[in-house]
Amino acid sequence: MAAEALPEAWPLPVVEGAFALEHHRMVVAQPADATLAGYYLASVVQTEIELLQLVVAPACRRQGIGGKLLEHLIRHAPAGAHITLEVRASNHAAIALYQHHGFRQIATRVAYYRPAKPGLPREDALVMQYRGHG
Ligand SMILES: CC(C)(COP(=O)(O)OP(=O)(O)OC[C@H]1O[C@@H](n2cnc3c(N)ncnc32)[C@H](O)[C@@H]1OP(=O)(O)O)[C@@H](O)C(=O)NCCC(=O)NCCS
Repeated sequence: MAAEALPEAWPLPVVEGAFALEHHRMVVAQPADATLAGYYLASVVQTEIELLQLVVAPACRRQGIGGKLLEHLIRHAPAGAHITLEVRASNHAAIALYQHHGFRQIATRVAYYRPAKPGLPREDALVMQYRGHG
């Protein structure tokens, strides 16, 4: 699913390896028909949380699933946690979703991502953060 959705998708063995790592959490959204609709992968080290991947299957988008996954991450964060992520500057859907849920841009990593397609320039990453209360 990630390979379809993201140019920077991790190879499957890397994703499988992340399951085994301490401090990593993977949550899936799976409706009653048993189709995998989406998932997120996050690193959770006390109050420092990094959202590593958030992907919703193309057929399931714009139905609120990405928002629900993000809300799950926020709801289960300890008091005072910061949730940080990187997103391609051109990924307007994801940026809108994160802004909608209270994430704000805190930095830019210039030319961080490989080109989305051959021939295009490298792309900036926006570093976004959600600051929990408490
Ligand atoms: C980004 C992504 C996870 C959003 O998942 P989703 O389930 O479609 O999101 P939701 O339905 O919960 O959308 C919530 C809000 O986000 C914003 N949003 C989501 N998709 C959008 C789009 N294509 N264009 C503009 N805004 C969008 C809207 O504000 C939307 O609210 P609305 O539907 O009431 O207008 C999904 O598009 C995806 O998997 N993309 C490919 C992988 C990816 O880019 N992941 C993020 C990497 S950092």
